[in-house]
Amino acid sequence: KIIVLDFGSQYNQLITRRIRDFGIYSELLSHKITAEEIKAINPKGIIFSGGPNSVYDQDAFTVDPQIYELGIPILGICYGMQLMAQNLGGKVEAAKDSEYGRADIQVLSDDAVMFKDLPKDQYVWMSHGDLVKEAPAGFEVTATSANCPISAMANDAKKFYGLQFHTEVRNTQYGLDILKHFAFDVCGAQANWSMDDFIDLQIEDIRQTVGDKQVIMGISGGVDSSVAAVLIHKAIGDQLTAIFVDHGLLRKNEAQSVMDALNRDLGVNIIKVDAADRFLGKLKGVTDPEQKRKIIGAEFIEVFNEEAAKLKDAEFLAQGTLYTDVIESGTDTAQTIKSHHNVGGLPEKMGFKLIEPLRSLFKDETRALGEKLGIAHDLVWRQPFPGPGLGIRVLGEITPEKLTIVRESDAILREEIKKAGLNESIWQYFTVLPGIRSVGVMGDGRTYDEAVAIRAVTSIDGMTADFAQIPWDVLQKISVRIVNEVDHVNRILYDVTSKPPSTIEYE
Ligand code: XMP
Repeated sequence: KIIVLDFGSQYNQLITRRIRDFGIYSELLSHKITAEEIKAINPKGIIFSGGPNSVYDQDAFTVDPQIYELGIPILGICYGMQLMAQNLGGKVEAAKDSEYGRADIQVLSDDAVMFKDLPKDQYVWMSHGDLVKEAPAGFEVTATSANCPISAMANDAKKFYGLQFHTEVRNTQYGLDILKHFAFDVCGAQANWSMDDFIDLQIEDIRQTVGDKQVIMGISGGVDSSVAAVLIHKAIGDQLTAIFVDHGLLRKNEAQSVMDALNRDLGVNIIKVDAADRFLGKLKGVTDPEQKRKIIGAEFIEVFNEEAAKLKDAEFLAQGTLYTDVIESGTDTAQTIKSHHNVGGLPEKMGFKLIEPLRSLFKDETRALGEKLGIAHDLVWRQPFPGPGLGIRVLGEITPEKLTIVRESDAILREEIKKAGLNESIWQYFTVLPGIRSVGVMGDGRTYDEAVAIRAVTSIDGMTADFAQIPWDVLQKISVRIVNEVDHVNRILYDVTSKPPSTIEYE
């Protein structure tokens, strides 16, 4: 295992990902970790990530100085290198010109282990305002560039290395090779980690943490909570109780398919709470989008709390938090954006201890894990579905009749997209009821009925999106089927806006 200490760089999650891709387990930990704690983890190597601070800032992130006495190899990247230089007696100062982007470096030493077998001249990705002016005693300067004379430094005796540039990004020509040299040649790590090891490791860890106590968790039917539930169930069986709240805003057959996949096929103990009446009751007459969201969120927590209170000895709350959520929740760095949004506010309120077995994984790794755990392919590759569900796809007031139209039209859309083989290439696709009534003609009669909009987007992370270009013939089939099969629909609209300026959902 190689651990990465987080100093807040936007690239830090990439470092661990690259190392895991080498077949070495890696995770990101807070820079506040103590040398004692690191000793207990016993990693083969430590990487200090980059970060937005200057080592001279008043509240600059630092490390337990004892880390340098552990005899474990350390690689400092960007801020990490500057911190190491400062801690060990070198000098850091502001660069004359901040450097952002490509830079050419020259390797100075023939036997620099980090640059082994690589060309002397190469380009790298720099992003820094400070630089190391003087390397600490015992360090050799191993690479240089016009703007940054000490682009790399090495202390082979102690196995301490510093790189001013970012090895983890693709714009560094030999970034992966350099990182590999650290992992394999310097740390002597072996490529023997796989998802199976991850499963074993987590199971062991969960068992130890939980002991004979009970764990509860909310599942939404989404990928993350499903995978977490199955993994935890593998570890502690019936000590886990999952709570699945049916708020009446789920898609067609959704509750059943989730229950089938997790409960029937995989044996996870799930309590399904039918709370549709409660939610729809509270939402009656409400038209404002934000108010709708708030009502749904608050009611969700209420229902969950009530169910949790019925369970005896539940000491732990499990969540399907992913790496990206952890980063957003902040790891003691400046990057805190929002905290555990999975089950907003529950842990503090209820005094649970948290279990988050996926907190070191990315979405695609989570999907791979889900497949390994034997979760149904359809569930693992499911498109994202928002917590407020169809509630934000019926614009304005939510009524059972309107929900039926969205639910039925959405089911047809999903069926046809799947038939056309597009279900894993389009990121998200659904129907919306914008609340527009228009005149149509059906048979010999006039109709005055609802329009249904089709929203389909391609995206990587949902932050930005392009409208998906569903082939016309597929759209035509969908359109004909919805108008014929869903009552009170006489018009189909296709949304051709990207995000921004639109959002993916309508409310
Ligand atoms: P927007 O509409 O903001 O959506 O472009 C971006 C992505 O987030 C999903 N989404 C949500 N997911 N709870 C969730 O779990 C929510 O309240 C929520 N609102 C939007 C949306 O489906 C899309 O994938």
